[in-house]
Amino acid sequence: MAMPKITHHHKHNPSLTLLLSFSCIGLLCVALLFDFLLAASSSSASLFPSLSPLWTLRRQQLILLPNVTSSNASALPPEASAESRTVRAPDRLLSATFSDLPAPQLPWEPMPPAPVPRLDGAAIQIDNLLYVFAGYGTIDYVHSHVDVFNFSDNTWGGRFSTPKEMGNSHLGMATDGRYVYIVAGQPGPQCRPPTSRSFVLDTVTKRWDDMPNLPDPRYAPATQLWRGRLHVMGGSGTNRHTPGLEHWSIAVKDGKVLEKDWRSEVPIPRGGPHRACVVVDDKLYVIGGQEGDFMAKPGSPIFKCSRRNEVVYGDVYMLDQGMKWKSLPPMPKPNSHIEFSWVVVNNSIIITGGTTEKHPVTKRMLLVGEVFQFNLGTQKWTVIGKLPYRIKTTIAGYYDGWLYFTSGQKDRGADNPQPKKVVGDMWRTRLRLSSSSS
Ligand SMILES: *[C@@H]1O[C@H](CO)[C@@H](O)[C@H](O)[C@H]1NC(C)=O
Ligand SMILES: *[C@@H]1O[C@H](CO)[C@@H](O)[C@H](O)[C@H]1NC(C)=O
Ligand SMILES: *[C@@H]1O[C@H](CO)[C@@H](O)[C@H](O)[C@H]1NC(C)=O
Ligand SMILES: *[C@@H]1O[C@H](CO)[C@@H](O)[C@H](O)[C@H]1NC(C)=O
Repeated sequence: MAMPKITHHHKHNPSLTLLLSFSCIGLLCVALLFDFLLAASSSSASLFPSLSPLWTLRRQQLILLPNVTSSNASALPPEASAESRTVRAPDRLLSATFSDLPAPQLPWEPMPPAPVPRLDGAAIQIDNLLYVFAGYGTIDYVHSHVDVFNFSDNTWGGRFSTPKEMGNSHLGMATDGRYVYIVAGQPGPQCRPPTSRSFVLDTVTKRWDDMPNLPDPRYAPATQLWRGRLHVMGGSGTNRHTPGLEHWSIAVKDGKVLEKDWRSEVPIPRGGPHRACVVVDDKLYVIGGQEGDFMAKPGSPIFKCSRRNEVVYGDVYMLDQGMKWKSLPPMPKPNSHIEFSWVVVNNSIIITGGTTEKHPVTKRMLLVGEVFQFNLGTQKWTVIGKLPYRIKTTIAGYYDGWLYFTSGQKDRGADNPQPKKVVGDMWRTRLRLSSSSS
């Protein structure tokens, strides 16, 4: 009688975990317990701490795993069975922080935090102003306004509302230096369906205009202005999980859309959301990202987020006049949730934080705490420093020699790279790119 009840509640029942640990003897039972913990966690989102009450129990820093290289490890099938984990002799220790890369500490200076904490927000820098759009405040609450940071006096202000029908997260966004083009994304909290609605903002008058709907709704498509056209590619399709490969463009000028419809362009070799998309020197780059994402739980009236398998990658694709995608050297590690985490300085793309491939054994989400430089001249990646903590969906800015970042979801501590608190904190450090790499 008791069993079904316990089974039903075991996800959130620490005493059962204890009971199991006391009644288990030997390696087999350790494996069982481990499986139990995995099963208990596999369906719960790591977006927010409230969704993962078990994590406090899982502070063990070292776990046994088969002797595979980390590049090998990340290629383990996502649902690696208990059998494959226990049959192979465990002969190496893999810490939770194994994916951190060696990098110099940077002196980060705290700046005034954003008015609200923000996950999956969007941002555009125009001269000395950083416009920070929407985002989740919590999994059940999304922002529908813009906050503006002024780099000249390091203050936040100038809050204004976004249109009702505009997405609140997972937006595609680009600017020509005055007008901001806002494409598709997810309206509302949790894992609600995406929209194809798109808008133009005049940052001078704060006026919003409609623009033609994207041909299909998308989550977090890579978006940039290039050669007089707004390009939108990749992202996730309507179920939030299936990677989109489509690539569309539409001619725009000074906030006006010059064509009636989007045009189909050469599809991107690998689809998916949460990538950096950057145009420098007449070339378009798409960096990192992932395949798959959280999905709405079937039948959930609130579209409750539930975790699904994700593959994070570090691929770099480039388009030039030839309109043929070229692969460039990948990031030093897979990295996603970086769509607004980049700046361009001295012919280099600088990227702050992100998420990397999940832990090969625990399947936990791992955040990224490094600052990366991609030198467009040499096409070489370097890890140039560490952030104050690991964090995803950062919003980066660069002004007067300073690299800034704000917002996102940070880690659980130096020894625990799993996501926890959503923050609005802002930091800056003097950026010094070595002359050999500029
Ligand atoms: C992965 O491991 C297998 C053996 O288990 C080995 O043959 C292969 O070379 C490894 N791959 C990499 C990329 O290290
Ligand atoms: C893991 O395997 C490699 C290659 O087979 C070996 O050189 C290394 O010593 C092994 N590490 C451990 C901890 O057994
Ligand atoms: C930004 O700050 C500078 C220096 O205080 C000020 O002159 C400027 O008007 C501010 N810009 C905006 C848009 O508030
Ligand atoms: C960029 O290049 C200029 C000119 O060489 C140099 O003065 C500046 O320090 C460089 N910026 C960074 C962040 O390294």
